[in-house]
Amino acid sequence: MTHDSLDLWDSQMRKEIREEVRKALGDLGEESSLPAGEGPVVELKDLYLSFGDHTVLKGVSLELDRGETLSVLGGSGAGKSTILRLILGLTLPDSGQVRLEGQDIANVPLRQVLALRRNMGMVFQEAALFDSLTVYDNVAFYLHEHTQLPESEIRRRVVESLDLVDLEPDQVLDLLPAELSGGMKKRVGIARAVVHRPRLLLYDEPTSGLDPITTRTINDLIMKLQAELDVSSIVVTHDIRSAFRISNRVALLFEGLLAFMGGPEDMVASEDAYVREFLR
Ligand SMILES: Nc1ncnc2c1ncn2[C@@H]1O[C@H](COP(=O)(O)OP(=O)(O)OP(=O)(O)O)[C@@H](O)[C@H]1O
Ligand SMILES: [Mg+2]
Repeated sequence: MTHDSLDLWDSQMRKEIREEVRKALGDLGEESSLPAGEGPVVELKDLYLSFGDHTVLKGVSLELDRGETLSVLGGSGAGKSTILRLILGLTLPDSGQVRLEGQDIANVPLRQVLALRRNMGMVFQEAALFDSLTVYDNVAFYLHEHTQLPESEIRRRVVESLDLVDLEPDQVLDLLPAELSGGMKKRVGIARAVVHRPRLLLYDEPTSGLDPITTRTINDLIMKLQAELDVSSIVVTHDIRSAFRISNRVALLFEGLLAFMGGPEDMVASEDAYVREFLR
């Protein structure tokens, strides 16, 4: 590809990602979220999904326990982001169930699906900030679109969220995404995801493209949020070190199935051939 066509492709990709972000952040409605139920926060049951003749998921099941951080590992194209899209309800499975707080999202009224969605915060792959909006407007996005809160209260919450991700509000509020470093972008993406205080956080590759030191600080942040916000989290990543550091359990997606599910130390001890190869 020439430079020009690469640029065109890149801007098209960015546009698609942004529309997706808008959709995910956008369809939430205004009502308050549901109270937490009993049992697993997320339950995926025997999910199958194909795109054309390419079958991505071939019977994936997993449960996320309350308060737990679960990492989903896998190579590029394994279907990691797809799993998050299924949980968000942006993609529907060909068969199988997605249950949130015990409820099958295919079988509850839309109102309730929206309420379930309000419990979720999503940190998108590559942060996917809105390029033309300042940090303030990026973080305030959900509150602007879906609440009638006075601007003073929105500002208070934005500042609180930026504090939470260890950014100095006064120094970043008016900046545009292009003026931020890679690590700062990820932090702003996380602040945007937590501004409405979700109970379930979904992260798509929160440390990809970062140097080792910044990766460590983002991992520390994920663990801090886990403790301070009392959330349950699913982290999609291909970074084994990060997954081991932040997770209670890890799942390994391979050829449409979970090749492994368990604690990091069990994964290290596993004798499964693919697990061994992946760890190497
Ligand atoms: N809307 C779609 N239409 C067609 N194919 C799709 C679509 N979404 C995903 N796929 C395909 O499904 C597979 C899994 O995609 P997915 O984005 O979930 O992978 P991933 O594990 O997140 O990869 P990466 O690490 O590169 O982000 C890929 O082969 C991808 O091309
Ligand atoms: Mg992905």
